[in-house]
Amino acid sequence: MTDNPYRDDRGNNDRSITKSGGGVAQPVTSGQSSPAPGTPFLIGDAMTGGYGKGPDILHSCTIAVEPGEIAVIVGPNGAGKSTAMKAMFGMLDVRSGRVMLDGEDITALSPQQRVVKGMGFVPQTHNIFTSMTVEENLEMGAFIRRDDFRDTMAQIYDLFPILKEKRLQPAGELSGGQRQQVAVGRALMTKPKVLMLDEPTAGVSPIVMDELFDRIIEVARTGIPILMVEQNARQALEIADKAYVLVQGANAHTGTGKELLANPEVRRSFLGG
Ligand SMILES: Nc1ncnc2c1ncn2[C@@H]1O[C@H](COP(=O)(O)OP(=O)(O)OP(=O)(O)O)[C@@H](O)[C@H]1O
Ligand SMILES: [Mg+2]
Repeated sequence: MTDNPYRDDRGNNDRSITKSGGGVAQPVTSGQSSPAPGTPFLIGDAMTGGYGKGPDILHSCTIAVEPGEIAVIVGPNGAGKSTAMKAMFGMLDVRSGRVMLDGEDITALSPQQRVVKGMGFVPQTHNIFTSMTVEENLEMGAFIRRDDFRDTMAQIYDLFPILKEKRLQPAGELSGGQRQQVAVGRALMTKPKVLMLDEPTAGVSPIVMDELFDRIIEVARTGIPILMVEQNARQALEIADKAYVLVQGANAHTGTGKELLANPEVRRSFLGG
């Protein structure tokens, strides 16, 4: 046993754990969420919008994640998955629709204000500072904190032991999978109430992907709901409590991961039959 909540049930790869009623680990953070009744913990509700004065990319797109859940967004390249994540994080204006976090309308808040409210976001690209060391990256992640963050850092090193080993190395020298661990670790340094990951397994080998998914499940079990975009649709749907297929900026299919895996249209169009 360990006293680190990230490492509870280490080695248990039971993927049902993220389902409601599954094993419950202690929250690592302030993360245990308490949404207003009837409202998802985080929802981008009927979001319509695009970049600058450009055309709408999102068309009344709705994405939500509940406490204890892993929600997954899949869909073809250019479907607007990253745009939907950025809209929820406040990186582009929604022209209509709104974003609610824990019952509060945060549509007008800046990304930094959303971080203060408890959102952690790992973008698809440029998600680490390559010339800084691993440890400096984690320290940067703690920028909003005024308290002692060493415990959080120790938990992250426990979750991702390779980062401890390489903590004094420039992050740019790490492998793709290791960099993704730095990026997720950096986001966890704020002790987020919800974690948003845009393609956390991009460009890594299948084995590293499985390993990253296991770590992501561990984070979810500490009570931090996770919303992630994944290109590895089948594997992502297998661990998803809730899943969204986006096509051309709109919701094409929504259901549990299992439902979408069983949906003939989803299988044919997105999972290769
Ligand atoms: N910064 C930007 N400025 C203008 N248009 C953009 C910008 N970023 C993305 N787009 C456009 O928005 C559309 C959706 O792109 P987005 O990156 O959200 O897709 P995606 O589903 O994440 O794709 P991928 O699977 O390749 O990551 C695309 O047509 C893209 O050209
Ligand atoms: Mg993308």
